[in-house]
Amino acid sequence: MGKRSMPDTSSQAGPHVPVLLDEVLAAFDPIAGKRIVDGTFGAGGYSRAMLEAGATVIAIDRDPSVQPFADALSVEFDDRFFFVPGTFSQLDSLAADHGPIDGVVLDIGVSSMQLDQAERGFSFMRDGPLDMRMSGSGESAADLVNALETEQLANLLYAFGEERKSRRIAQFIVAARETKPIETTLELARIIEKSIGRKPGDAHPATRSFQALRIAVNAEFDQLVEALFAAERLLDEGGRLVVVSFHSLEDRIVKRFFDPEKGGPSQSRHMPQVQTEARRWVEVAKARKAGEAELSGNPRARSAVLRAATRSDADSRPVKFDGLGVPKVREA
Ligand SMILES: C[S@@+](CC[C@H](N)C(=O)[O-])C[C@H]1O[C@@H](n2cnc3c(N)ncnc32)[C@H](O)[C@@H]1O
Repeated sequence: MGKRSMPDTSSQAGPHVPVLLDEVLAAFDPIAGKRIVDGTFGAGGYSRAMLEAGATVIAIDRDPSVQPFADALSVEFDDRFFFVPGTFSQLDSLAADHGPIDGVVLDIGVSSMQLDQAERGFSFMRDGPLDMRMSGSGESAADLVNALETEQLANLLYAFGEERKSRRIAQFIVAARETKPIETTLELARIIEKSIGRKPGDAHPATRSFQALRIAVNAEFDQLVEALFAAERLLDEGGRLVVVSFHSLEDRIVKRFFDPEKGGPSQSRHMPQVQTEARRWVEVAKARKAGEAELSGNPRARSAVLRAATRSDADSRPVKFDGLGVPKVREA
């Protein structure tokens, strides 16, 4: 493929505007010469900026549609850019051939491309198949809404979307699918709107339910927890982990992971902590948010929170979900 037919992956004109990019670069400063794993490649906005600043980048994404962006960067930075398809929960094994690694960055969530492509089924604003699978394989959102019992569906919408009217929505979904299976995003959005109404000025009534389904379809909380522990195993003393998240449920997980004294995995509820356990993460930075200048150009940055910390020399912990505040779907 000739260079002129490559997609434009520059951070200014790319299809996905990178969020908190300056803060990400600052978190790795000085970045030149470092080897960084970009666990959420997307359109390559972070990767490009890190490559331009002199880093070597090992990029990971589970979405096969990002390949052209990766190909473009491979042409431009052939000896410093490596793309490995896969899930970031396995980032340590995916990066194993490229070590030693100095930093890991994760920009959790969906990309603008995924949201904007109606056929991916992520958006209640665009009509498309009710899909939502980032990787394009496994169970789709349609599979879930057409198969789960009312109670299971309600519990899922409540746990992953913090949807307080989850029961009513679930009842309407189950009643609607008795006539015919729910196949499209707009069909589902209309059913939800019919169930709980729509107030002018409020977010679309389907916002929380779509978030919950997306999280379930892509096992997003499991992926995040596994990725944090994978980064802990991968990084040696002094390595930096930088995570940008987009809602409070994810941010809580990252915050507690970095700081077990806030309820993280090494704190036991039953034993008084006589001596503080060796910390795996030090220099835990205060959460960073986008400033007014960035928000005026990119409203998507409004909910973004960046957290960063440095790996200590303490041994990595086994993966443990307890204490991180990971939302659980109640059994029906
Ligand atoms: C918000 S976008 C990243 C945008 C990127 N920072 C940029 O500047 O273009 C998130 C990307 O992470 C990918 N992703 C989400 N969860 C993933 C996972 N568990 N494993 C690998 N990739 C994942 C999505 O497919 C999406 O392309």
